[in-house]
Amino acid sequence: METRAASAQDAEGMGQVIREIIEHTGRQRPNDVDIVMGRYIADPTSIRCTVAVDGSGNIVGFQSLKKAVAGNPYDTPEGWGIIGTHISPTAHRQGVGKLLFSTTREAACQAGLKKIDAYIGADNPSGLKYYDAMGFRTYRTSDGIVQKVCDL
Ligand SMILES: CC(C)(COP(=O)(O)OP(=O)(O)OC[C@H]1O[C@@H](n2cnc3c(N)ncnc32)[C@H](O)[C@@H]1OP(=O)(O)O)[C@@H](O)C(=O)NCCC(=O)NCCS
Repeated sequence: METRAASAQDAEGMGQVIREIIEHTGRQRPNDVDIVMGRYIADPTSIRCTVAVDGSGNIVGFQSLKKAVAGNPYDTPEGWGIIGTHISPTAHRQGVGKLLFSTTREAACQAGLKKIDAYIGADNPSGLKYYDAMGFRTYRTSDGIVQKVCDL
């Protein structure tokens, strides 16, 4: 397993990861190539988007880190980081999330961030436990959402 910065050629593989998560969880989310490009790869607020690639060259997951700007959809305080993690169910509990976060954390420190926000469904125990394990703590809850922060 290795990680590298996401590029435009990865958009299809990243969309496929999202579709596999949808199939597994039943929770819908946008997954077409244009959305993946706009939301994760070409977003001007992106600091780093990292893909995890298996030995056959397949993308098994990705993690995005963006800078929170005024009016962001998560109401994250301006200047914090915003993290998002998507890993194929075929690769869960194999350390992919942990590997991705080591890269993301480094990128966040290099970018001078002090805090990273994770926006998680309250009905997503894996996501909640994952971010706890990565050193995040709950700082806000609202209407089925838990927001956790990591102090860098
Ligand atoms: C949540 C998610 C990112 C975890 O990724 P992962 O690659 O399976 O995580 P890792 O294998 O690196 O696990 C790291 C640690 O997180 C915790 N963890 C991860 N998944 C867990 C689970 N299902 N139950 C309990 N703890 C879990 C554990 O402490 C784990 O360490 P351990 O395996 O040594 O006990 C992955 O399940 C995922 O992408 N889910 C779908 C999308 C999602 O929920 N995104 C995040 C919230 S929006």
